[in-house]
Amino acid sequence: MTFRIAPSILSADFARLGEEVRNVISAGGDLIHFDVMDNHYVPNLTIGPMVCKAIRPHTKVPIDVHLMVRPVDRLVPDFAKAGANVISFHPEASEHINRTLSLIQDHNCQAGLAFNPNTPLDYLDEVMNRIDLVLIMLVNPGFSGQSFIPEALHKLRDARKRINAYSAQTGRKIYLEVDGGVNTENIARIAAAGADTFVAGSAIFDQPDYQKVIHNMRNALVYHTSKG
Ligand code: DX5
Ligand code: ZN
Repeated sequence: MTFRIAPSILSADFARLGEEVRNVISAGGDLIHFDVMDNHYVPNLTIGPMVCKAIRPHTKVPIDVHLMVRPVDRLVPDFAKAGANVISFHPEASEHINRTLSLIQDHNCQAGLAFNPNTPLDYLDEVMNRIDLVLIMLVNPGFSGQSFIPEALHKLRDARKRINAYSAQTGRKIYLEVDGGVNTENIARIAAAGADTFVAGSAIFDQPDYQKVIHNMRNALVYHTSKG
């Protein structure tokens, strides 16, 4: 399995965002995770398409936009135009999930569906053939720096089973991303539950040496893989 590390810039120094993006990618990050909060769907307010556009020239890696907003659709074209490559949203926040997925893919972005700890995976049943990524929240969305909820690993295992069954049938790849509380100590355990893409905010940006943290995360993942 190829593992991807997605540093979440929510924990970066916003006064030096371009530089932070360049530094964390040269330190080994595979994609930039971009958290959009609206003080409505979640009780926090962060960044929008203008900031996405501003960081786009600073890196060639995919920008992975995580929409924690309601309504969703209005923002999709704006983020696509601002250079997003992946756009994920929470199914409860969309009036018409299929329409939102189409909107994202019509704008040449990969589409992801994000699940809170209390959101059932049943939403996947109808749309597995439409999505490129499943995002499992390991915390309740809204803030960086929270501890991961161990029970969320059940949902992660369940999502892995569903994805594997679907991929075996169709040959189509769907990424399985986790978000919230990921760090060097727990990343191997989370990988063992089925994740292939790991968002990490405070675990990376709160440390002085990004390269060292990402290196330690990859070592933990290699160890997990070698254990089978
Ligand atoms: C939380 C956001 C996360 C957050 C992760 O609602 O979706 O992406 O930035 O931060 P950490 O890794 O610090 O939990
Ligand atoms: Zn996120």
